[in-house]
Amino acid sequence: MTDFSSVKGKVAVVTGAADGLGKAIALCYAENGMKVVVSDINAQKGAAVVDEIAAIGGEAVFYQTDVSKEDDVKGLIDFALASYGKVDGIVNNAGISAENRPTHEYSIEEFDRLTAINLRGVFLGMKFGVEAILKSKAPGGFVVNVASQAGVLGNSAMGIYVSAKHGVVGLTKSAALDYAPHNITVNAICPGTIRTSIWGDAPEEVIDQYAKLLSPNGRLGDPKEIAHVALFLASDLARYMSGSTILVDAGSHAGKVTPVQWSHPEILE
Ligand SMILES: NC(=O)c1ccc[n+]([C@@H]2O[C@H](COP(=O)([O-])OP(=O)(O)OC[C@H]3O[C@@H](n4cnc5c(N)ncnc54)[C@H](O)[C@@H]3O)[C@@H](O)[C@H]2O)c1
Repeated sequence: MTDFSSVKGKVAVVTGAADGLGKAIALCYAENGMKVVVSDINAQKGAAVVDEIAAIGGEAVFYQTDVSKEDDVKGLIDFALASYGKVDGIVNNAGISAENRPTHEYSIEEFDRLTAINLRGVFLGMKFGVEAILKSKAPGGFVVNVASQAGVLGNSAMGIYVSAKHGVVGLTKSAALDYAPHNITVNAICPGTIRTSIWGDAPEEVIDQYAKLLSPNGRLGDPKEIAHVALFLASDLARYMSGSTILVDAGSHAGKVTPVQWSHPEILE
């Protein structure tokens, strides 16, 4: 089968699904016939995503979760099993950014908070999520961890974010080997710069400047462009793909850009 219909009826838990990439993934999964357990720390916005899914004829339920808390994540997975009787996959997407500063200027509290959400949260999602996938005997089980380009490249003034995302990539690679014998795939999506609320209140012109600076094609990514990759990873088309770090960043990780004049710009006319 070379379309995405293999995802129909699969149950997926998506963390941080009230906004941004998680919301786009939840909507895309539901549009393609998956049953989605939307989870987020923000109950109001999470419930609104469930309503949006219902409005397009999809199936979803909401569970409020702080991914840094063991009891919350355990409760989320129990809720998913109670709601749909099985779990086929989990998308560990919830994450936060940090202020930009040199490493020594971060406080210990900032490091602990970011690491608790961006790394511990992914570990907890995998710990309880994979247990449920194993119990469900899902024939096409999958884990998608949303890391970042910062999971494979260093970045000045982002040390604590970069270290947590490298940790997510490390967990992904190791778990891929742990669960390959059980036919569960474990992959990391590493987005570049995507237009979501993680940008906070940054003015449009600042975002535009960043896009030109960070993205070789000159624009920020759309959350849907991450969701489509997450859909592929949930499908049976991706059963031979595991332990991969998939960069979705318009090529910005590929190297440096040298601006040159084209000899034949008329080709574009
Ligand atoms: N947007 C980008 O440019 C970009 C680039 C690379 C990686 N990422 C990663 O993608 C993921 C999603 O980011 P986004 O841009 O969609 O951000 P976002 O801020 O738009 O959405 C994040 C969601 O996570 C939720 N959340 C925050 N803390 C939580 C917690 N403790 N428990 C549960 N939910 C929590 C928020 O309420 C929100 O709904 C993050 O892991 C982020 O690091 C984003």
